[in-house]
Amino acid sequence: MTQRRHSIAVIPGDGIGPEVIEAGQRVLEALADRFDFALDWTTFDWSCERYAETGTMMPEDGIDQVRAHDAIYLGAVGWPSVPDHVSLWGLLIPLRRDLDLYANVRPVKLFEGVTCPLAGRTPDDIDFVVVRENVEGEYSKIGGRLYEGTEHEAANQVAMFTRHGTDRIMDIAFELAQTRRKHVTSATKSNGIVHTMPFWDERFEAAKTRHPGIDTAAYHIDILTAHFVLNPDRFDVVVASNLFGDILSDLGPAIAGSIGIAPSANLNPARTTPSMFEPVHGSALDIAGQGIANPAAAIWSGAMMLDHLGETAASDAVMSALAETFKHPETRTRDLGGTASTSEAVDAVLKAMG
Ligand code: NAI
Ligand code: MG
Repeated sequence: MTQRRHSIAVIPGDGIGPEVIEAGQRVLEALADRFDFALDWTTFDWSCERYAETGTMMPEDGIDQVRAHDAIYLGAVGWPSVPDHVSLWGLLIPLRRDLDLYANVRPVKLFEGVTCPLAGRTPDDIDFVVVRENVEGEYSKIGGRLYEGTEHEAANQVAMFTRHGTDRIMDIAFELAQTRRKHVTSATKSNGIVHTMPFWDERFEAAKTRHPGIDTAAYHIDILTAHFVLNPDRFDVVVASNLFGDILSDLGPAIAGSIGIAPSANLNPARTTPSMFEPVHGSALDIAGQGIANPAAAIWSGAMMLDHLGETAASDAVMSALAETFKHPETRTRDLGGTASTSEAVDAVLKAMG
């Protein structure tokens, strides 16, 4: 019998990135043993540390080095020695764009045992997915500065929304809703942003006709953030532009207890390039090196990676085990009001897997 093998490019990055990725790898290796598949890891030292030594976050042919893998598993990048826009545009954004990872899928779920900052909410109330457009929109390099350092200094930046890019992210959201509670909410701002956002609304309307049987809602982003806090039970799948999705996918995990849990997938649904899986959180310099980072976001991102690679039984097994560990203070990390270190939290997940 040929064993299933998956080749994974690992980019641990900076700060707590390497700590949580090592934790995730321990769990994924245990799953591989148990579910009879193999993971071939190739580790890349692309980080702010590398930038300090070489002047670049990754080598010039970096994208080609990861292209041949089945998936990418990334920790986080960012360190005060390198400006955040340099680390982001030197690594993460090129990976997302050059590999056409246009769908950023970020689940938000309140687990039993996790304290919800919203009074009276239970796990039944908070279970939705933010689908963020990941390669165009407001995050564009089009623009510039004029008359720098003078009184007439000016800056502008052009948001780019294409029909191709907007339609395909809408389709991902509607297809996902089809497998869930069949509801899609659009994040818009067509009252204030008068060109791109009315276009976004039109493409949402067009998507509705392509996907009958899905209920929909649309809110301007300002009131939508209020509804996340006041009525999180309204949401199943939320589709948003690059900027709005970025904001909503931090607010989401915040209402679900901790950013230390939140995972994300950067998907190329056509599978012509490796998709990338990473925690939503960053390198968390305030707790780096202390062995206390919550590994849950990295483990859940790993579960999403296994699901993408077709290892659904392994993915389901690790999610049940992870959920079990949130129920007890001694197996929860400190950000969740527990006492476990990173490695104790991993031990608990392995134990719960049996
Ligand atoms: P952050 O997510 O690193 O930290 C925010 C807060 O959440 C901190 O108090 C941190 O201790 C806590 N936190 C984050 N992850 C945690 C975990 N696993 N367990 C327990 N607590 C956790 O965001 P921040 O401080 O805005 O950014 C720090 C650096 O990370 C910056 O350089 C930023 O650019 C970078 N960053 C990188 C990202 C990526 O690589 N995808 C995403 C977000 C930020
Ligand atoms: Mg963000």
